[in-house]
Amino acid sequence: MKVAVIGTGYVGLTTAVSLAVKGHEVLGIDVDAAKIEQLSNGRSPIYEPGLDQVLLETLGQGKIRFSTNLVEAKEAQVVFVCVGTPETEDGEADLRYLHAALQDIATLHNHSPKERTLVIKSTVPVGTGDQAAVSLRHCKELQVVSNPEFLREGCALEDALNPSRIIVGADSEEAIAVMQTLYSGLSAPWVITTRANAELIKYASNAFLAARISFMNELARLSAVLGTDVTVVSHGMGLDSRIGSQFLRAGVGFGGSCFPKDTIALLKLANQHGVTLSLLEKVREVNASQPVWFFNQLVSKIPDLAGKRIAVLGLAFKPDTDDIREAPALRILAELQAAGAVVTAYDPIAAKAVEALFPDVEYVTTPEAAFAGAHAAVLVTEWQACVKLDWKLIKEQMEQPLLFDGRNAWPHDELKKAGFEYLGVGKS
Ligand code: UDX
Repeated sequence: MKVAVIGTGYVGLTTAVSLAVKGHEVLGIDVDAAKIEQLSNGRSPIYEPGLDQVLLETLGQGKIRFSTNLVEAKEAQVVFVCVGTPETEDGEADLRYLHAALQDIATLHNHSPKERTLVIKSTVPVGTGDQAAVSLRHCKELQVVSNPEFLREGCALEDALNPSRIIVGADSEEAIAVMQTLYSGLSAPWVITTRANAELIKYASNAFLAARISFMNELARLSAVLGTDVTVVSHGMGLDSRIGSQFLRAGVGFGGSCFPKDTIALLKLANQHGVTLSLLEKVREVNASQPVWFFNQLVSKIPDLAGKRIAVLGLAFKPDTDDIREAPALRILAELQAAGAVVTAYDPIAAKAVEALFPDVEYVTTPEAAFAGAHAAVLVTEWQACVKLDWKLIKEQMEQPLLFDGRNAWPHDELKKAGFEYLGVGKS
């Protein structure tokens, strides 16, 4: 099929490339000319494992191209809207880019009418798809579909090509048939429902995953005082198929572009309808205080951090991404600096972005270099490069062998045997 994708951020670019892999003829559209040029030359503006290579391949096969001009999409049978819906100052979803995209599609459609399906992939408040359908009702032969995306940064392409489920919110057989043709190469369960249900499924999924994490983080705080091991507790819980083992990892809190933004947007949406999601409010509260709780663990061992050299390993909000949006590392760096610590940080990809915010931190290019002369080391993001380390060498290099494992990812038993003092999140 001929497909246009508006917005070439994480979701848009991954959607465009994965559709091209599946044999569709894809046009990626973005207002950012520099980005379009970069993409046309086969370079991804975001760090995402495997994406560059597949981008080059699909460009080479002529399956994908990029433009700033939506008019080039006049042949498109399907137009995806994958623009950002960032947080406004009061926490709601900012729909200005979405509205601009809808306006552009209406103009395109009126100039070049044909049977066309508009697919909203952006995460939008419940009711947005229905409102779009109403505002575009003058566009004859244009169907509006809600088709939320569940891909994770760091494995975005894999998730797009092997989705856990395909959620389609539509109100016509024709639109459903188009989506079935579009995704015919994917094997995943389908949920065909209303646009509003589809939109809520997206928010509810993210909120629920976030809730699991905050629950485990509170259990970790309890484990820290009881002397229990939250990783063992989590393993034992996860074996119950009603619970499942994923998203039960205690840590320094969730970050990224989705969980923080989508949980506040859902709270706001509920409030607007007179409903208080008190559990979700707590989920966010626990998450906001988790990096501080973790920092206080460090203070309990080193009450006076002034002038102490602290190594920080990992800065991105999770491994395999250069994204630092809402990264817990930012909060931890701020606390360390406020306490007067001398911070040396390492991240394989995200250091540059953090440097702009924390110019006084020393950024090193190997994880080992971060440990040199350190009074303590803190693991914030569990990159493989920050986890698989030469501990013998590190022990010799550190001023004090004191480790704070914010992801319970360092080899606890081995480190204890090697004479390190180890403190994880709800694990000691
Ligand atoms: C998330 C959803 O997983 C995805 O379905 C949605 O489309 C977008 O939001 P993403 O933000 O890329 O994806 O990352 P994810 O792997 O979900 O991790 C989010 C945060 O939770 C990270 O900061 C991660 O470190 C943290 N996390 C995750 C935990 O602290 N514990 C866990 O057990 C899992």
